[in-house]
Parts: sequence; C-alpha cells; structure tokens
Amino acid sequence: MNQEKSVYTIAVIPGDGIGPEIISAACAVLQQVASIDNFTLNFISYEAGAGAYQKYGNALPAESLDGCRQADAIFKGPTGLPEVRLPDGTEAGVLGGRLRNGLDLYVNLRPIKLYPNVPSALANRQPGEIDWVMVRENTEGLYASRGNGVVATSGQAATDTLMITRLGTERIVRYAFEEARRRNHKKRVTCVDKSNVLRSFAFFRQIFKEIAQNYPDVEAETMYVDAAAQALVLEPDRFDVLVTENLFGDILSDLGGATVGGIGVCAGANIGDHYAYFEPIHGSAPRLAGTGRANPLAAILAGGLMLNYLGRRDSAAKIEQAIEQAFRQKTIILKPDGSAETGTQVVAEAIIKQLSA
Ligand code: IPM
Ligand code: MN
Repeated sequence: MNQEKSVYTIAVIPGDGIGPEIISAACAVLQQVASIDNFTLNFISYEAGAGAYQKYGNALPAESLDGCRQADAIFKGPTGLPEVRLPDGTEAGVLGGRLRNGLDLYVNLRPIKLYPNVPSALANRQPGEIDWVMVRENTEGLYASRGNGVVATSGQAATDTLMITRLGTERIVRYAFEEARRRNHKKRVTCVDKSNVLRSFAFFRQIFKEIAQNYPDVEAETMYVDAAAQALVLEPDRFDVLVTENLFGDILSDLGGATVGGIGVCAGANIGDHYAYFEPIHGSAPRLAGTGRANPLAAILAGGLMLNYLGRRDSAAKIEQAIEQAFRQKTIILKPDGSAETGTQVVAEAIIKQLSA
C-alpha cells in the first residue's frame, strides 16, 4: 500500500441488525484519528446482507460489489439475519463465501490480544501474555467445498473435499512470515496441521518448510492441530503468528477469542493482493439492534486493522493504545460474555477522548 497517499475511499457495508450503529461509532473513531494524523477517509455506504436480499433478491447487489472493487478498502459490519434464508435453508445474508472467494481474499488475519481488565477464560493471565495472530487460509482447505459438497444419490452419504494447492499454501505461508517481521515481537511462525494423518497436510507442511528457508530471521516451528489447541490454552505466551488451513483456522481463532474476552473484542481482516475487507467477527445480534447497547469495540478494532492495511500503521497503533488506556482506566468495562457494560456511544466516546488526550 502506498504510504504517501492522503485520501482514501472506503466502501462501507453497514450490514444488518446492530451493524449500522457499531459501524457508525467505529467510523467516528476512524475520522478522529484521521484528522489528528492529517489524512482523509471518504466513507461511501453500500447495501449488502440480509436487508439487501429482502429488497433486491440479492445479498450483494452489483452496484455494491462494484463500489467495493473501486475502493481502497472495504469496512464491513455483520451481515445476515436468522429468519432471512435462501430456499435451501442457509442464511441469505452471509457474505463471507462471496467476498472471500469472489475477491480472492486469501488471508484471514485475526489478532488475539488480551487487554487490561478484560475477563479471560484462562485464569491468571496478564496482558502481554496472550498476544498472537491467526493467519488462516481463507479460500481453500476444507471450505473449498463450500456449496460443492457431494450427496450420494441414495441420500445416505455426503462428502466434502479438502483442497490444498501449492500456490494457495505458498502465498499464505509467505504472508505469515511477513506478518511476523511486521509485528517484530517473538518473530516465530507456527505451522498448524495434521500431517501425521493426512496427505494434504503433509503437503502443506512441506511447503511451509520450503518457504521458511527464505526467512532465516524468523523462527519456524510445526505443531499438530490437537497439540496446538492444548497449547493455546496452557501456554498461549509461546505463540506469535500461527498459519493454518481454513477449517482449523476458523476453529482455533474462536478458541483464541475465548481466551481474550470473547467475540466482543475480536476483529478480522480478509486480505488479497487487490482487495481487502475488515469486520468485527461477531454476528448482527438483531435483538440488540436499536437499543444503543451494542459493543462497538470489535468494529473499532477492525478499523485499526484497516488502517494498518492502508499503510497507516502509526494511526492504527494510536487506536490500539487508546483502547488499552480506556480499559486500564475502566472507562470501558466488559462483562464476562464480552458485551460492554456501557452503551455503544460511551465506548466510542471513551476511545475518541483517549485519542485526543
Ligand atoms: C467466520 C465464520 C464464517 C466462516 C461463517 C459465518 C460462514 O465462521 O468468519 O469465521 O465459516 O468462515
Ligand atoms: Mn468462524
């Protein structure tokens, strides 16, 4: 990304349920940091999700997809409503498959970081001891079968195929090593697989080892996924960057989320070579919509990931520091279920105030 740039076009998908309110709170935080750091964010809103499906019969209308393609980055709220379904019974508003595969966003980056005063599911863990990032392959693996599974004509069997390609593995592994360099923490990449049992994962690990040769300054280690699940609970402080297949990454990033206060503080970046979108990883919580009680923190963290992607790493760091300070001073308090004790506005204002302090 071009660091000289000072005006960015951001395609915003406010989404369904609590989406619009948390995204607008997060945009206010982003505008604040942009004005402090002298750059401009032009937010352009596009309809997509369950609401768009109800209105147009298409959860991602062509105009919205075009807008996303033309923007420097896409800022996306949660989409989907439980009662809005396709004829086959699946949710109509979920965009993950269409955006990730459609725009070839092969990286799903999910930072897992424990902030001060946040209740962790792990006893006696201090901030600094849980600070790692999941680099999940986002376009193949077992989810390459998304929408392509086979059901036997008897109706008595079903299969999904796990696909690992050389190109897909090389690019995700390379991204993981580059990320370890960018983070400059422990400089360690852990390859998570099941190569003791499955041929596809032996192939994944082999390619990991090949790519690792090009990064002598970064420690490369391998771990079976079952052992990794245990280690993420028992010794999370040993991890820096994890790289793995789509399904394993999906599962382990939620496990990680539970160790840092849950989905209320987890954001995800979906990144490819040409496009990227940034989102809170929680859902649209329709029952909370309009109550002003939704926690905008994950959306704000997603905004920080977007600034990083745009090359505004200092501004992203400022947001992170502001959140950290707000937690430290208890102007933001999280309940054990990850929701905020205070309302949407109060959380956003606390962070904006920290940014201006
Ligand atoms: C995620 C979600 C999605 C996925 C679902 C909603 C399709 O679980 O982003 O982790 O499977 O990737
Ligand atoms: Mn998931």
